[in-house]
Amino acid sequence: MSHDHLNAIDATIAHIPSPGEQFFPPFSVTPELEAQVAELITHYPEGRQKSAILPILHIVQKQFGFINPASIEWTASQTGVSAAHVLGVVTFYPGLRQKCPGKFHFRICRTLSCAMSGAEDLFEVICRKTNIDPASINHHEPIGVSPCGMWSIEQVECLANCGNGPNVLVNDLLFDKVTPEKVDEIIAKYKQA
Ligand code: FES
Repeated sequence: MSHDHLNAIDATIAHIPSPGEQFFPPFSVTPELEAQVAELITHYPEGRQKSAILPILHIVQKQFGFINPASIEWTASQTGVSAAHVLGVVTFYPGLRQKCPGKFHFRICRTLSCAMSGAEDLFEVICRKTNIDPASINHHEPIGVSPCGMWSIEQVECLANCGNGPNVLVNDLLFDKVTPEKVDEIIAKYKQA
């Protein structure tokens, strides 16, 4: 294996720093997390602990904001697989992230109906209004975060509300028919939260 290839693997599993991390606790194996995952693993037959990988990753991401290298190692140790196996799961599902989002995470739909109702322009508008650099977003790093860490954005596929685009999720709340004016209202609302 070439050194270039090794470096590519290191880069994939490396910690990707984000100003959003100030709003989430750092990953640590708390007694609560340990108990939660131990209970979860009992839902699967003996020898099939690796079936718990996805639910564990969801718990980790919800509590700590993202899935960092230490949490990948820990999930591997709990489920009897290699860290590379867990990394493969993390990188397969777009809903799992290796970079911490901001305190308020915009997920803007880019699928056809929303694209035709202006999602592309709206993406630029949200970036401008939240001071997120759209050039920082690419296939390998799909989440852009504002320097203050309050805001982040990610383009996602269909949010299942196609007749009312453009659609945007902020954390887990859906906003539809979003206009630039509505973006101002959303930002003002969350600034007070
Ligand atoms: S295309 Fe955007 S919600 Fe379906």
